Amino acid sequence: MILKIHQIQQIVTALQKEEVVGLPTETVYGLAGRIDSEVALKKIFAVKERPFFDPLIVHVSNVSQAQELVFEWPAIADVFTQAFWPGPLTLVLKKNNKINNLISSGLETVGLRWPRHRLTQMVLEELGVPVAAPSANKFGKTSPTTAEHVEGEFATIQPPIRILDGGACEVGVESTVVWVQGSQFSILRHGQILQRDLERALQERGVDFEYVAHIDAKHSPGHMKHHYMPSVPMYLFSEEKFSEATMSEGAVALDLSANPIEAARQLYSEMRRLSEQNPSCIYFIKKPHHHTEDWAAIIDRLTKASTKVSE
Ligand code: TXA
Ligand code: MG
Repeated sequence: MILKIHQIQQIVTALQKEEVVGLPTETVYGLAGRIDSEVALKKIFAVKERPFFDPLIVHVSNVSQAQELVFEWPAIADVFTQAFWPGPLTLVLKKNNKINNLISSGLETVGLRWPRHRLTQMVLEELGVPVAAPSANKFGKTSPTTAEHVEGEFATIQPPIRILDGGACEVGVESTVVWVQGSQFSILRHGQILQRDLERALQERGVDFEYVAHIDAKHSPGHMKHHYMPSVPMYLFSEEKFSEATMSEGAVALDLSANPIEAARQLYSEMRRLSEQNPSCIYFIKKPHHHTEDWAAIIDRLTKASTKVSE
């Protein structure tokens, strides 16, 4: 059930009543439930058919709300939040006991983010309690970037889930997830905010840091080989490996803008639009310019969404 801005109070009331709702963010739409309700948290996992080992991101409405949920707030976290919040950046920090184990999947850390979408900020401010919100798609499937995508994804759920319409998402891929401990940090999931952006912010403020390139996988659960998958098979080719002769009739190409910011905005809606044509497969051809850091988030999603990768 898609609700418009003038019905925003219904969204707040549903959250107050421990229901889950669809919320727009600048990255992708989230399926939100209040963090102080185990009932709501369990609904998130049930509706998404998500396994409990995959931790949820907590969405806050200001920095102090985030600070109240963690055991420590290193100088690096100060820099990152001043530079990039509200925005598409999730910080993974040592949690305190206000974080339910359902959120953190038994880890000692919690992912925190202050989203930039004004409608969701209004909901969070009115509610006064942070919400846990994974992307509003069935587990392993393509993330939603419009309210209609969310409605389609959960069409069979009864009673219907209320979704706040905030238009098409501005960023289009999920937030950059950054693990922070003391003076170290590491990127666990690529997004629009890049390693060079994070390092520049630290350098500008004269804060010492060490970038950890290959962090132990135990810090980063929920990173399955396959994820973001559309309803038809997807293939990723390098230019050298692609030959039109090997593609069956009825295969369609995913074409994205040459500008990575624009391409991210197109990615999931194009994957959904092409799937609806029910082709035998969707293929994407990886070009030399896709190897730069600016494309890391998009190539990561495409690789995980593909059943076959030939490079
Ligand atoms: O942009 C986003 O981050 C969106 C919007 C809705 O905010 N949310 C999102 O949530 O992408 P989700 O559940 O689809 O992805 C959450 C991922 C987990 O799978 C995991 O990889 C990482 O974030 N994560 C969350 N908490 C973590 C933690 N404590 N330690 C390590 N990784 C964590
Ligand atoms: Mg997701």
